[in-house]
Amino acid sequence: MTSPALDQIHAALATVNDPEIRRPITELGMVDSVDVDETGRVAVTVLLTVSGCPLKDTITRDVTGAVGKVAGVTSVDLTLGVMTDEQRSGLQETLRGGQAQREIPFARPDSLTKVYAVASGKGGVGKSSVTVNLAVAMANQGLKVGILDADIYGHSVPAMLGLGDIRPTQVEEMIMPVPVAVTGEGVLSVISIGMLKPRRDQVVAWRGPMLDRALVQMLSDVYWGDLDTLFLDLPPGTGDIAISLGQHLPNAEVLVVTTPQEAAAEVAERAGTMASMMHQRVIGVVENMSFLPCPHCGAEHRLEVFGAGGGARVAATLSKRFGYEVGVLGEIPLDIRLREGGDAGRPLVLSDPDAPAAVVLTGIADTLLSKGRGLAGMQLGLSPAGR
Ligand SMILES: Nc1ncnc2c1ncn2[C@@H]1O[C@H](COP(=O)(O)OP(=O)(O)OP(=O)(O)O)[C@@H](O)[C@H]1O
Ligand SMILES: [Mg+2]
Ligand SMILES: [Zn+2]
Repeated sequence: MTSPALDQIHAALATVNDPEIRRPITELGMVDSVDVDETGRVAVTVLLTVSGCPLKDTITRDVTGAVGKVAGVTSVDLTLGVMTDEQRSGLQETLRGGQAQREIPFARPDSLTKVYAVASGKGGVGKSSVTVNLAVAMANQGLKVGILDADIYGHSVPAMLGLGDIRPTQVEEMIMPVPVAVTGEGVLSVISIGMLKPRRDQVVAWRGPMLDRALVQMLSDVYWGDLDTLFLDLPPGTGDIAISLGQHLPNAEVLVVTTPQEAAAEVAERAGTMASMMHQRVIGVVENMSFLPCPHCGAEHRLEVFGAGGGARVAATLSKRFGYEVGVLGEIPLDIRLREGGDAGRPLVLSDPDAPAAVVLTGIADTLLSKGRGLAGMQLGLSPAGR
């Protein structure tokens, strides 16, 4: 029996990605040693970035699986170690691409990431539900998607994705976003401002400078990797976060979520004020909780629980105000399964992709994708409106 070739084992290890960093463990200095004897027994030592890495089971499974497939390998004996401080510094440098300075990758003029800030005039209209489902819908289509939950007062995004109280892995000053499983080839990773708070029950009274620092940290110290799309789930209303965002991510586009009931002028005014403070473009309006499909007649009979026409009114007011076409991207019906999916940590587009609300959400994701980069990144130079 011939013993397996060492270079084939290395090639197999190079197919294993670190689940958080999403790059081959061989490139990240995580493979410490590989030994093989003449009977085909392989001993591999892999260094985790931090001890108690939450994803060590995934790494174990992937390494054992990949090496086990190499011809001639009879067994794989994996030892997990932990990087030294020095190795971690080296890794951090590799990840920053030699760049010592912190910077926000999405703010670079050559950034290819589409950034959407999901905003609303008031709370509870479904921003987080829309964010999470749009992100999952895009990841399901094979895109690399990130969610930055910038709502310090809520923890809804991690809960809606079933992440519970999970804490992100930290490599030196770098924070690894938490990966979320999706169907298909895409990836979804999440960071919530709530994950960075020292304690969950700490009710944050963060204001301007603190919030700004937290936001910059989530944009620059988090290793997002290459993303196609980044969603920012904003706290309701205008405010400090909006101002920070405008300064740090002027090329973000704003997605306004509203219900049919809201006073169009009021919502449009707030969202518009925010967008102009941020010099950002409003990409469209999503009307949520639009109607309840009649339990007797079906979707043709819309029970207009919260009235009708709010989305269209907001879109018309914003179009007039900005002088460009702001459209309604979709009307999402009320659906108990949407709330249940949120509570259970399984977004509707994953758990029940054929539900009418999921179909509308997927349609909105498609529309956003088809809009491409458009005018994103252009400074519109709108003067800030008074509040
Ligand atoms: N179309 C819908 N049908 C049924 N329930 C919905 C729908 N949209 C949202 N919900 C539910 O309404 C509640 C509020 O939604 P969500 O948390 O997404 O709103 P939000 O705008 O992010 O709120 P906040 O301002 O507090 O951050 C949640 O329980 C959610 O599951
Ligand atoms: Mg929310
Ligand atoms: Zn009916």
